[in-house]
Amino acid sequence: MTKKILVLPGDGIGPEIVSQATKLLDLLIEQGLDVTYDNALVGGCSFDEHGVPLTDEVLQQAREADAILLGAVGGPKWEGYDISVRPEKALLKLRSELALFGNLRPALLYPQLASASSLKPELVENLDLMIIRELTGGIYFGQPRGIRTLENGEKEGFNTYVYSESEVERIAHVAFRTAMLRNKRLCSVDKANVLEVTELWRQVMDRVAKEYPEVELTHMYVDNAAMQLVRAPKQFDVMVTGNMFGDILSDCAAMLTGSIGMLPSASLDINGKGMYEPIHGSAPDIAGQNKANPLATILSVSMMLRHSFGEAQIADKIDAAVSTVLDQGYRTADIYTDGMTLLSTSEMGDAVLAALK
Ligand code: IPM
Ligand code: MG
Repeated sequence: MTKKILVLPGDGIGPEIVSQATKLLDLLIEQGLDVTYDNALVGGCSFDEHGVPLTDEVLQQAREADAILLGAVGGPKWEGYDISVRPEKALLKLRSELALFGNLRPALLYPQLASASSLKPELVENLDLMIIRELTGGIYFGQPRGIRTLENGEKEGFNTYVYSESEVERIAHVAFRTAMLRNKRLCSVDKANVLEVTELWRQVMDRVAKEYPEVELTHMYVDNAAMQLVRAPKQFDVMVTGNMFGDILSDCAAMLTGSIGMLPSASLDINGKGMYEPIHGSAPDIAGQNKANPLATILSVSMMLRHSFGEAQIADKIDAAVSTVLDQGYRTADIYTDGMTLLSTSEMGDAVLAALK
């Protein structure tokens, strides 16, 4: 059966990077890959057109698709609006409505880019770590939440940090299975010394660990984990953590690799249906200039083929093509160093296609 992809370019640099990915999809389709794709609006551009960042129609299209490719959402233009209609809300709604609880955020250092890291090369050489972030629970979604006025007239903001055992269990299984496919080391990150919710998180991790005797499970407090990530990141293989800690640690890990413009991500439901997106944002400052790095989006297509469509061979070829263009010295501005060849967004897309042919 032909697989359906919903393509959501979004805002800022979203459209220009996503069009490099769809160029790649067109080539793969020409070469026999049995997929089709449709485009739709999401984020600020949807708000401008329809008054909401995600329409019911697009949500329905997302439900019906086998996978979703998203560019980026948001920008200063929409920052003044109420939080309920901000572009980011579309992302959160897609995640929660489609139950995309398992977020895979690899931090992989391409040897060709070792000098782009802010850490010493020996600390990050061959860095290959995977952060698994729980994406549909925790403080991002906990109720009650809001801003209320106290009796004395002062305002108070509040959110709820909550995880049920079953929510922790299902992300634990994703993490242990991922570790089994890698170096079998899993570090669960929590704040169990202060927060009961993560004390329970830790207990559930220990319980699930019994089903994966080959995986070595360790626990680390989040403050220490942040420190260890910049001190000695290679000690980690797979890390698993809740929604908010994962948000923060994954940005930190991404920066270790020197270019957030290189990193894809997958957000998966229980059946492996997924939404795929580069982990960088909409970069409004360079939007529309054909300057952005499309490689994270191209690598997101690779993750889609691997995780949702069972096409590991094609995914390997895409990954190899990205490595080839780096070997050829091609760089977009964000990863440019002296002596390399500076390419625009579309030229980089073309270079990957050429390497693939
Ligand atoms: C991310 C982003 C989002 C998040 C924002 C845009 C809502 O930072 O995907 O990491 O906080 O999850
Ligand atoms: Mg983030």
